[in-house]
Amino acid sequence: MSAIEEKFLKTFGEEPDLVAAAPGRVNLIGEHIDYSEGFVLPFAIKDRTLAAVRKRGDSSVRIASAQRRNKIVTVDIADVKPGLKGEWERYALGVLWSMGVTSGVDIMIDGHVPLGAGLSSSAALECSVATAMNHLFDMGFNLEELARLTQKAENQYVGVPCGIMDQSVSLMATQGFALLLDCRDLSTRNIPFDVASHGLELLIIDTQAHHALTDGGYAERRASCESVAAKLRVKSMRELTMTDLDAARDQITHTEYIRARHAVGEVKRVLDCVDALSIADFAKVGELINQSHVSLRDDYTVSCPELDTAVEASLAAGAMGSRMVGGGFGGSAIALIKASQTAQTIHAVENAFAYKKFKAPRFFTSLPSQGAEILSRR
Ligand code: GLA
Repeated sequence: MSAIEEKFLKTFGEEPDLVAAAPGRVNLIGEHIDYSEGFVLPFAIKDRTLAAVRKRGDSSVRIASAQRRNKIVTVDIADVKPGLKGEWERYALGVLWSMGVTSGVDIMIDGHVPLGAGLSSSAALECSVATAMNHLFDMGFNLEELARLTQKAENQYVGVPCGIMDQSVSLMATQGFALLLDCRDLSTRNIPFDVASHGLELLIIDTQAHHALTDGGYAERRASCESVAAKLRVKSMRELTMTDLDAARDQITHTEYIRARHAVGEVKRVLDCVDALSIADFAKVGELINQSHVSLRDDYTVSCPELDTAVEASLAAGAMGSRMVGGGFGGSAIALIKASQTAQTIHAVENAFAYKKFKAPRFFTSLPSQGAEILSRR
């Protein structure tokens, strides 16, 4: 029996019917453009969240987490609706609600995606539960539908206005590849991302910073893009070119202009990055990653001193490219480095953080890993 099956048995007194897993993610490039119908290029990391589940004969939902000392939360499925108070379990219950689950179920969660690091532990939780429910109740949703349903859970049940990137990559990623996702129609292309065979590594730097701005700051950025789209009569930033934007500059505010400039530029950088990867031009990939950071820092203003320090210190230590990833205001940065320079890059970032009296950062690496899957079924 696997560790999670044992935890399930210990907590609920029965064996689970099945176990599903879904990973966290990092985003190579394409930040803050998923809600503007742009392209993004994330990959799944090896750390994932497991959900062991079992059908019950009644209408009770019991849910526990190994990270919360297996404490059981019990609720009737009929009461699982937006507005129901709760803690971490809202991410799982929101998925039951958005998928339309109507029968009772026992759920045990065991999460291995670092929390609060900007590596999408919430999407991993949502997608592990969604994958488990889809199979447990033979619901027949495809991966696009599951991505939309898990995003709906986070938007409408948990109340976080996130885009579609994190859930999509957690569900759709393939080992060895980054996922080029078109956020307009959720079509995908697997892009080989084999840094190791080129002697490179993608270092993930968790700054351990979490600035309070996160929620309001994210919503405010989304609102700017929507306002520009409305004023310029386009559906989303995806439809704008830099020429259109410059020509319409006097119809929007300066803040709207620089937000839109990030979005339009970032869509192009993603496509340029795909071209660069197709010819293994990692120097170009590094340049694009750097441009993305500058744009997020100066135009989208979602970086913070800890992220900028991580980026500057890794570049000074020889990184080919470095940028903040995810929503910003804290969380993680990535650095594309020569594998032989890992220790010196870590050392340089640690020193820079100590000098500025920031909390010590954490470091991870991960090769592109597999998306959500069923691990075992009885
Ligand atoms: C968060 C959101 C995503 C995306 C990123 C920024 O991770 O959940 O939908 O908008 O920020 O790219």
